[in-house]
Amino acid sequence: MTRGHLQIVVCAAGPAADVTQLVTTATQHSWTTAVTATPSALDFIDAEAIERLTGHPVRSAYRSSLGTRRSLPAADALIIAPATYNSVNKIALGIADNYAMTTVAELIGRQVPTVVVPFVNAALAARAPFQRAVAGLRDERVRVLLGTDDGWEPHPPGSGNSRQKAFPWTTAFKAATRLAGEAPAGSTDRS
Ligand SMILES: Cc1cc2nc3c(=O)[nH]c(=O)nc-3n(C[C@H](O)[C@H](O)[C@H](O)COP(=O)(O)O)c2cc1C
Repeated sequence: MTRGHLQIVVCAAGPAADVTQLVTTATQHSWTTAVTATPSALDFIDAEAIERLTGHPVRSAYRSSLGTRRSLPAADALIIAPATYNSVNKIALGIADNYAMTTVAELIGRQVPTVVVPFVNAALAARAPFQRAVAGLRDERVRVLLGTDDGWEPHPPGSGNSRQKAFPWTTAFKAATRLAGEAPAGSTDRS
Protein backbone atom coordinates (compact mmCIF):
# COMPACT_ATOMS: atom_id res chain seq x y z
CA MET A 1 0.00 0.00 0.00
CA THR A 2 1.28 3.43 -0.93
CA ARG A 3 1.36 6.26 1.57
CA GLY A 4 1.21 8.82 -1.17
CA HIS A 5 2.63 9.95 -4.46
CA LEU A 6 5.62 12.27 -4.55
CA GLN A 7 6.21 14.38 -7.64
CA ILE A 8 9.85 15.34 -7.99
CA VAL A 9 11.05 18.16 -10.25
CA VAL A 10 14.76 18.35 -11.00
CA CYS A 11 16.56 21.39 -12.37
CA ALA A 12 19.93 21.68 -14.08
CA ALA A 13 22.46 21.58 -11.26
CA GLY A 14 24.96 18.95 -10.16
CA PRO A 15 22.86 17.21 -7.48
CA ALA A 16 20.27 16.28 -10.12
CA ALA A 17 22.56 13.32 -10.87
CA ASP A 18 21.77 11.97 -7.41
CA VAL A 19 17.98 12.31 -7.48
CA THR A 20 17.76 8.51 -7.34
CA GLN A 21 18.66 8.91 -3.65
CA LEU A 22 15.38 10.73 -3.09
CA VAL A 23 13.46 8.17 -5.14
CA THR A 24 14.98 5.34 -3.11
CA THR A 25 14.27 7.03 0.22
CA ALA A 26 10.66 7.67 -0.76
CA THR A 27 10.22 4.09 -1.99
CA GLN A 28 11.61 2.74 1.29
CA HIS A 29 8.90 4.76 3.05
CA SER A 30 6.16 3.37 0.80
CA TRP A 31 5.73 6.47 -1.34
CA THR A 32 5.48 6.24 -5.11
CA THR A 33 7.44 8.75 -7.16
CA ALA A 34 7.69 10.26 -10.60
CA VAL A 35 10.36 12.64 -11.88
CA THR A 36 9.90 15.63 -14.15
CA ALA A 37 13.01 17.38 -15.45
CA THR A 38 13.50 20.85 -16.83
CA PRO A 39 14.84 20.70 -20.40
CA SER A 40 18.33 21.65 -19.20
CA ALA A 41 18.24 19.08 -16.40
CA LEU A 42 18.02 16.20 -18.88
CA ASP A 43 21.79 16.51 -19.37
CA PHE A 44 22.37 16.00 -15.65
CA ILE A 45 20.31 12.88 -14.98
CA ASP A 46 20.29 9.20 -15.85
CA ALA A 47 16.71 9.03 -17.08
CA GLU A 48 16.79 5.25 -17.61
CA ALA A 49 17.92 4.61 -14.05
CA ILE A 50 15.18 6.91 -12.73
CA GLU A 51 12.56 5.19 -14.86
CA ARG A 52 13.62 1.78 -13.60
CA LEU A 53 13.27 2.94 -10.00
CA THR A 54 10.05 4.95 -10.33
CA GLY A 55 8.27 2.87 -12.95
CA HIS A 56 7.34 6.08 -14.74
CA PRO A 57 8.88 7.85 -17.71
CA VAL A 58 10.82 10.99 -16.91
CA ARG A 59 8.65 13.82 -18.21
CA SER A 60 10.20 16.96 -19.61
CA ALA A 61 7.98 17.99 -22.49
CA TYR A 62 4.29 18.07 -23.17
CA ARG A 63 2.96 14.94 -24.83
CA SER A 64 2.79 15.71 -28.51
CA SER A 65 0.14 13.33 -29.80
CA LEU A 66 -3.22 15.00 -30.13
CA GLY A 67 -5.98 13.24 -28.28
CA THR A 68 -3.68 12.01 -25.53
CA ARG A 69 -5.12 13.43 -22.37
CA ARG A 70 -2.49 15.24 -20.34
CA SER A 71 -3.31 14.34 -16.81
CA LEU A 72 -1.87 16.30 -13.95
CA PRO A 73 0.35 14.30 -11.65
CA ALA A 74 -1.82 13.03 -8.84
CA ALA A 75 0.63 14.36 -6.31
CA ASP A 76 0.33 14.29 -2.54
CA ALA A 77 3.58 16.22 -2.26
CA LEU A 78 6.01 18.01 -4.55
CA ILE A 79 9.76 18.39 -4.12
CA ILE A 80 11.74 20.64 -6.44
CA ALA A 81 15.35 19.64 -6.00
CA PRO A 82 17.89 20.67 -6.87
CA ALA A 83 16.25 24.01 -7.59
CA THR A 84 18.45 26.31 -9.64
CA TYR A 85 18.73 30.07 -9.28
CA ASN A 86 16.94 30.29 -12.61
CA SER A 87 14.01 28.07 -11.68
CA VAL A 88 13.56 29.45 -8.16
CA ASN A 89 13.16 32.90 -9.63
CA LYS A 90 10.79 31.65 -12.32
CA ILE A 91 8.63 29.66 -9.92
CA ALA A 92 8.22 32.66 -7.63
CA LEU A 93 7.20 34.84 -10.55
CA GLY A 94 4.78 32.23 -11.85
CA ILE A 95 6.61 31.73 -15.11
CA ALA A 96 5.54 28.54 -16.90
CA ASP A 97 7.77 28.37 -19.95
CA ASN A 98 8.37 24.62 -19.94
CA TYR A 99 6.53 21.49 -18.83
CA ALA A 100 8.30 21.31 -15.46
CA MET A 101 7.55 24.94 -14.60
CA THR A 102 3.93 24.55 -15.65
CA THR A 103 3.57 21.47 -13.46
CA VAL A 104 5.07 23.32 -10.51
CA ALA A 105 2.85 26.36 -11.05
CA GLU A 106 -0.26 24.22 -11.07
CA LEU A 107 0.64 22.05 -8.12
CA ILE A 108 1.49 25.05 -5.94
CA GLY A 109 -1.77 26.63 -7.06
CA ARG A 110 -3.59 23.48 -5.95
CA GLN A 111 -1.90 23.84 -2.57
CA VAL A 112 -0.09 20.56 -2.91
CA PRO A 113 2.50 20.49 -0.10
CA THR A 114 5.69 21.74 -1.76
CA VAL A 115 9.34 21.75 -0.76
CA VAL A 116 12.02 23.64 -2.70
CA VAL A 117 15.69 22.88 -2.11
CA PRO A 118 17.88 25.44 -3.90
CA PHE A 119 21.42 24.61 -4.96
CA VAL A 120 22.97 28.02 -5.48
CA ASN A 121 26.24 29.69 -4.70
CA ALA A 122 26.47 32.61 -2.31
CA ALA A 123 26.88 35.17 -5.09
CA LEU A 124 23.61 34.14 -6.72
CA ALA A 125 21.87 33.81 -3.37
CA ALA A 126 22.86 37.39 -2.51
CA ARG A 127 20.94 38.80 -5.46
CA ALA A 128 17.81 40.74 -4.57
CA PRO A 129 15.64 38.88 -7.11
CA PHE A 130 16.54 35.55 -5.53
CA GLN A 131 15.92 36.80 -2.00
CA ARG A 132 12.56 38.19 -3.09
CA ALA A 133 11.76 34.87 -4.75
CA VAL A 134 12.50 32.85 -1.61
CA ALA A 135 10.43 35.23 0.53
CA GLY A 136 7.58 35.19 -1.99
CA LEU A 137 7.47 31.41 -2.10
CA ARG A 138 7.46 31.21 1.69
CA ASP A 139 4.55 33.67 1.68
CA GLU A 140 2.74 31.12 -0.51
CA ARG A 141 3.42 28.47 2.14
CA VAL A 142 6.05 26.76 0.02
CA ARG A 143 8.74 25.26 2.25
CA VAL A 144 12.08 26.57 1.01
CA LEU A 145 14.93 24.68 2.65
CA LEU A 146 17.61 27.34 2.85
CA GLY A 147 19.40 29.17 5.63
CA THR A 148 20.92 28.54 9.01
CA ASP A 149 17.71 27.23 10.56
CA ASP A 150 17.43 24.63 7.82
CA GLY A 151 21.10 23.66 7.99
CA TRP A 152 21.45 24.25 4.27
CA GLU A 153 23.41 27.30 3.14
CA PRO A 154 24.50 28.60 -0.26
CA HIS A 155 28.04 27.46 -1.05
CA PRO A 156 31.02 29.62 -2.00
CA PRO A 157 31.22 30.19 -5.78
CA GLY A 158 33.23 27.44 -7.43
CA SER A 159 32.64 24.87 -4.68
CA GLY A 160 29.48 23.27 -6.03
CA ASN A 161 31.11 19.94 -6.90
CA SER A 162 32.34 19.33 -3.39
CA ARG A 163 28.96 20.39 -1.94
CA GLN A 164 26.94 18.07 -4.12
CA LYS A 165 27.36 15.03 -1.87
CA ALA A 166 25.91 16.96 1.09
CA PHE A 167 22.65 17.72 -0.72
CA PRO A 168 19.85 17.21 1.84
CA TRP A 169 17.68 14.66 0.07
CA THR A 170 16.48 12.99 3.26
CA THR A 171 15.67 16.32 4.94
CA ALA A 172 13.67 17.31 1.87
CA PHE A 173 11.69 14.07 1.98
CA LYS A 174 10.98 14.44 5.69
CA ALA A 175 9.85 18.05 5.19
CA ALA A 176 7.52 16.99 2.37
CA THR A 177 5.93 14.14 4.30
CA ARG A 178 5.49 16.39 7.32
CA LEU A 179 3.75 19.01 5.18
CA ALA A 180 1.62 16.33 3.52
CA GLY A 181 0.56 15.11 6.95
CA GLU A 182 -0.54 18.63 7.87
CA ALA A 183 -2.33 19.31 4.58
CA PRO A 184 -6.06 19.92 4.84
CA ALA A 185 -8.23 17.14 3.44
CA GLY A 186 -8.90 17.61 -0.24
CA SER A 187 -5.87 19.78 -0.95
CA THR A 188 -4.55 17.13 -3.31
CA ASP A 189 -7.76 16.65 -5.22
CA ARG A 190 -6.96 14.35 -8.14
CA SER A 191 -9.83 15.39 -10.36
C1 LIG B 1 27.81 22.05 -15.22
C2 LIG B 1 26.80 23.08 -14.77
C3 LIG B 1 26.52 23.21 -13.44
C4 LIG B 1 25.58 24.15 -13.02
N1 LIG B 1 25.33 24.26 -11.70
C5 LIG B 1 24.37 25.12 -11.28
C6 LIG B 1 24.05 25.20 -9.90
O1 LIG B 1 24.63 24.53 -9.07
N2 LIG B 1 23.08 26.07 -9.52
C7 LIG B 1 22.43 26.86 -10.42
O2 LIG B 1 21.54 27.61 -9.99
N3 LIG B 1 22.72 26.81 -11.74
C8 LIG B 1 23.67 25.96 -12.18
N4 LIG B 1 23.98 25.89 -13.51
C9 LIG B 1 23.32 26.80 -14.42
C10 LIG B 1 21.94 26.25 -14.83
O3 LIG B 1 22.09 24.98 -15.41
C11 LIG B 1 21.32 27.24 -15.84
O4 LIG B 1 20.99 28.44 -15.17
C12 LIG B 1 20.09 26.65 -16.48
O5 LIG B 1 19.55 27.60 -17.38
C13 LIG B 1 19.05 26.27 -15.45
O6 LIG B 1 17.94 25.71 -16.09
P1 LIG B 1 16.67 25.18 -15.29
O7 LIG B 1 16.45 26.11 -14.16
O8 LIG B 1 15.57 25.25 -16.32
O9 LIG B 1 16.95 23.78 -14.89
C14 LIG B 1 24.91 24.96 -13.95
C15 LIG B 1 25.20 24.82 -15.31
C16 LIG B 1 26.13 23.88 -15.72
C17 LIG B 1 26.40 23.72 -17.18
